[in-house]
Amino acid sequence: MSKALWIRQAYAIDPQSGREGTTDILVEKGVIAAIDGDLSGKRGLPEDPKALSPLKVQVVEAEGLLLTPGLIDLHVHLRVPGQVHKETMETGTRAAAAGGFTQILTLPNTQPVIDRPELVEEVLSLAKEKAVVRVHVAASVTLGQRGETLAPLGRLSRAGALAFTDDGRPVRDPFLMAMALTYARHLGKVILSHSEEPAFSRDGVCHQGKVALRLGLKGIPSLAESLGVMRDIQLALATGGRLHLMHLSTKESVEALRWGKAMGAPITAEVTPHHLALTTEELERWRYDPCTKVNPPLREEEDRQALVEALREGLIDIIATDHAPHSREEKSLSYEEAPFGISGLETAFPLLYETLVRPGHLKLTDLVRRLTVEPARLLGLPGGKLLEGEPADLSLFDLHTPFVVDPETFQSKGKNTPLKGRELRGRCVGTFVAGKEVWRLG
Ligand code: NCD
Repeated sequence: MSKALWIRQAYAIDPQSGREGTTDILVEKGVIAAIDGDLSGKRGLPEDPKALSPLKVQVVEAEGLLLTPGLIDLHVHLRVPGQVHKETMETGTRAAAAGGFTQILTLPNTQPVIDRPELVEEVLSLAKEKAVVRVHVAASVTLGQRGETLAPLGRLSRAGALAFTDDGRPVRDPFLMAMALTYARHLGKVILSHSEEPAFSRDGVCHQGKVALRLGLKGIPSLAESLGVMRDIQLALATGGRLHLMHLSTKESVEALRWGKAMGAPITAEVTPHHLALTTEELERWRYDPCTKVNPPLREEEDRQALVEALREGLIDIIATDHAPHSREEKSLSYEEAPFGISGLETAFPLLYETLVRPGHLKLTDLVRRLTVEPARLLGLPGGKLLEGEPADLSLFDLHTPFVVDPETFQSKGKNTPLKGRELRGRCVGTFVAGKEVWRLG
């Protein structure tokens, strides 16, 4: 059992309870035992923390630091099983901890695809052994993610799968998608949808627009996404199955989401930090370096603004990283040949803080909400809030000291990021899972 933990004088934000201000937290037996403006001399604690034995209580002086519930990311490619050259259970969960994430959902586009109950159990048991944060598993919608035959969703669910997705590719057959949504409804589970119409995305590698033309790269039009999004919303409406739209990137998708919610469709949506902060102009800077190659692609400034506005309004519910690590060799290929993906866990919070909160586009509490309570609610997870009796999953951030993103310092094996060299603020300096320190900067 972990020792007690006393975090002192942090600036806490808890969107669930509305708490915001200087806070002490006492953790005992892995859960939050007390929260108060100052716990000195209360709950059996001395006036002077130095009077405590460090063997019994870990004291963390957190004045000037932001304290949040541990962040929750429901879109992580841990690459387990089978793709250890890209990421492992150890490196991926250390990267999560370093980013302030205490719970992650790992996705099934692995080798083999997580489409059998034994594989769900294998990943969960590996996580028990090797993970430093809480790992949940999403299984595939179709066998082998081939889009032909439905995976055994009931058995996968009983083995512990929390959600289903063929992420990486869409479920091309609308009838199969409708079946999946119907099963999900009966199982009380959610389908996480990578909505895309492949007839339009084809072999595109970046957003279809002026930049693609200038660089001579094949484009993926916005329509490829919004057609898929609209189809999937219609299917959610028709079946009543819970649909979560992953990584929205276009203004048209935002309007489709608005329509779907107004119609009462059982839908939620997420957006990634990179789509909120970057545009296709980034390709001009990095030219043919595939660090900017991601699916869906970085879009236009007006798309980015629509996404930020939708997040501010609460139309988009959740921020998820789509952490997609790849090896150096893979990302050294030509722009056409390199795989899609950005390594995102370790830059998510600082990127969002620097580009959205500091300039005043988004309130800090809204940012934290979309990274904590909202993903917890969608997956029915405990945590995501600072309340007595809740699991003591906590993160500390330094909002003041600038740092330069250096992928070589990442815990993740994936060094693939277009943020290399950027100056940001909001670095995670400490992460606790059930009161146990799993990350400390420096
Ligand atoms: C994802 C990956 O690498 O698993 N990459 C990404 O750019 N989002 C899968 C995907 O192509 O969606």
